[in-house]
Parts: sequence; C-alpha cells; structure tokens
Amino acid sequence: MSKKLYIETLGCAMNVRDSEHIIAELNEKDDYTLTENSGEADLILINTCSVRERPVQKLFSELGMFNKVKKEGAKIGVCGCTASHLGQDIIKRAPYVNFVLGARNVSKIGEVLHKDKSVEVDIDYDESDFAFKDFRSSPYKAYINISIGCDKQCTYCIVPKTRGEEISIPADLIQKEAQKAVQGGAKELFLLGQNVNNYGRRFSGEHEKVNFTELLRRISKIEGLRRIRFTSPHPFHMDDEFLEEFANNPKICKSMHMPLQSGSSKVLKEMKRGYTKEWFLNRVEKLKSMVPEVSLSTDIIVAFPGESDEDFYDTLDVMRQVEFEQIFSFKYSPRPLTEAAEFTNTIDEEIGSERLSTLQELQNELLDKNVFKLLGKVYEVYFEELRADGYVSGRSDNNHLVKVKGSEELLGKFADVKITEVGRVSLVGEIVK
Ligand code: 5AD
Ligand code: SF4
Repeated sequence: MSKKLYIETLGCAMNVRDSEHIIAELNEKDDYTLTENSGEADLILINTCSVRERPVQKLFSELGMFNKVKKEGAKIGVCGCTASHLGQDIIKRAPYVNFVLGARNVSKIGEVLHKDKSVEVDIDYDESDFAFKDFRSSPYKAYINISIGCDKQCTYCIVPKTRGEEISIPADLIQKEAQKAVQGGAKELFLLGQNVNNYGRRFSGEHEKVNFTELLRRISKIEGLRRIRFTSPHPFHMDDEFLEEFANNPKICKSMHMPLQSGSSKVLKEMKRGYTKEWFLNRVEKLKSMVPEVSLSTDIIVAFPGESDEDFYDTLDVMRQVEFEQIFSFKYSPRPLTEAAEFTNTIDEEIGSERLSTLQELQNELLDKNVFKLLGKVYEVYFEELRADGYVSGRSDNNHLVKVKGSEELLGKFADVKITEVGRVSLVGEIVK
C-alpha cells in the first residue's frame, strides 16, 4: 500500500509550485500519495513562508500540533523559506522534526527524507535545470517556474536570503514544460518567478539569451493554449517593449500585478525599489491607454521606517489615481538578514495599524464606486471550480472572479458571461454564449 503525504503550503505561488514538485518527486520515487488528514499521514510537510514575522511564529505552534496528532513513526519535515532562513535552529527548537529542506533545495526532497535530522538549505544551490517529475494540482491551469531566486536588494525583503541569487531556467526547458502542460489539458499557463519580467538576465551554463518579452512570444505560439498569466513582475522592468507585448498579444491575460510597496518616492528610495512614484504612474498610464480594460493589483507596505504622514498620503494618492482592483496590504515587519531591520527610525505599531485600516477603507470605497461599472459587461470566463452553493466559478481574462449557476459540465470550458450582480470579491453572471 502506498504511503501517505500530508502537505501544508503557505506563502506565494512559487511555494505552491514547489509543493507540486515535492509531491511529484515523492510520488514517483517513494510511492507517496496525498491525504488531507494529518493523523493518517506517514509524512507531514509544512512548506513555509518567511516574508513576515507572524507566519514564522505560527510555524512552531503548528509543528507542536502536528507532533501531537501524527501517527506513530510518521515523519515531519519543514520546507520553504523559513527552512532556508532558520535551518538547523528548527530542529533545535522542535527536536521531533525529521528534516529541514530550503526553498532553493526542493530537488533534494528524496535525499533528506531518508537521512534523519538532515538540513539542506544551501541558497547557492542551482536547480535551474533540474527535471522535476510532474504533478499538477489543477487540470485546467499549470504553474511553470521560469526563474529561481531574486537579485533585487529591496531593503525590507528576506527573499534573496531564502531563495538565493536569480537564475533563469533555459527557455527550451520552459517551452517543453509548457507544451507538455497544454497537451495534458491545461489551457492556461501561469509563469512564475520572484521577479518574473527580469527573465533572461542570467542563466547557468551556455543557454540562448531570451528575454521575458521574447519568452512570452514563444510560449504564446503553443497550439491549444488560450491564456498566459505571470507573477510577479517588477515595475522597474516594465519597459515599453514589454508593455506593448502585454497589450498586443491576445493570449496574455489583461490583468497585471504591479507591486507598488509605497507611493512615496522617498520611501521607495529607502526601500531600494529602483523607481519613483512618477515612473510607476507613468507605467500605469501607458498600460491603461493601451489596454483600457486592464485590471491592476498591487502589494503595499505601510509604516516602513521613516514613513511620514506625507509619505503615506502619497501612497493613498497613487491608490486614488490608479484604482487597483485588488490590494494586498501589509504592516511593515522587520525581517532578520535585511537592511531595513537595522533602520532605527521605526514607526509606532499603532500608527502602522491606523494607516493599514485607512488604506483598506479607501480601497473599499474605491471598489464600491467602481464595481457597479461592471454590471452588464460581458466577459469570457474560464470555469475552474465547482462550488457547494450550486455555482461554478472562474476568472475573466482581466481576472475578475465570476460565478454562474451551473454544474461540473462547465469545468474546463470557456463561456461569455454577462454580469448581473456585483460585489467586492466576486461577480455573478449569466452565460450568454
Ligand atoms: N514586511 C511587510 N511586508 C513585506 N513584504 C515583503 N517583505 C515584507 C516585510 N518585511 C510584502 C511585500 C511583498 C509581499 C509578497 O509581501 O509587499 O510584495
Ligand atoms: Fe514567502 Fe517570499 Fe518565500 Fe514566497 S518567496 S514563500 S512570499 S518568503
């Protein structure tokens, strides 16, 4: 009988894909199949995120809980960014943990599993051309890594210390993987990288130099592929050539994540983001002029050290000018190994909380104002999920979550949907074609 694997995935899309790789390797080489019940698992894995402090604190309470419920002889492993960051300390604090596997060492899962107390967290490890086995959690869309690591030096961010230097995956490998995913039924591809539009800056070994725009062109030629999405692009690398490809390539979905972080040029400089408020707004303006239906999402950090009221108002000003569809907003959380952790001009917790709620209130106001404009619009929706309430949901090209009454026959299909009800999070509609 096959062994059972329980895996919990925290953090970003990169982690989701890493978990898929881990599941595939363990299935192929060690005969593990997935379970949703940690109590019956032979192996419990937590794929962690370390971008903010809170999830790291939660890790140890979760580990304690898993240690209590696990069946006798079951192993526990910690993977991902917190594994990279804390390494051996995880086993010191939770001695029942059997192994620690960093975010840059996913391909070694088969090795660490069989070496009790092993810790593999080398952030210089190059697995950019490792041929992972295949596992896809969705039959409709496929995540594909196009680069590993991150070369940026954003002063608040721990990721370069957990995922190492940026290396692009050779274009021919990506194309093969994309082709295979489409042949397997995926009509949508999600290209992943910490800094996805910096693709092609560095490969390991001799590989054809291809930039992100060219990679998009090549992938979009795959027959049977309908949609391409990608995350996360960096505003600094949004040159005209890239924006034009985004606008004119019909397979590229018209939603863009543009992580602003702050609307103040002064704070952006302190964050070492490489762009100003004006550059960001200029890119948005250009994008909107080329693609009026584009929907934009963003990440914002409030209360970064030194952020004055005026700096914060600049962030609100950008929000008003851009009218993002979705905002992921965070209170600044000092992270070890980062430059900003040494900054002494920190902002009071309370001010941070106030700014966060002011920002979120403004976002809700803007959403409430804009969402009514969607009534009566017709969007092509790709249906992916059967819901318990008799609805089937999917995403429009520009990333609205749309629900219609229906059954599983709709799954994996495209249909034109007219929007009849609107809300902040999702829209309801009727199929018109
Ligand atoms: N504090 C708060 N938020 C952070 N992020 C990254 N590092 C920090 C930090 N130290 C946010 C950024 C990033 C998102 C994934 O998490 O907004 O884009
Ligand atoms: Fe979290 Fe960043 Fe690691 Fe993704 S790359 S899991 S967001 S720390």
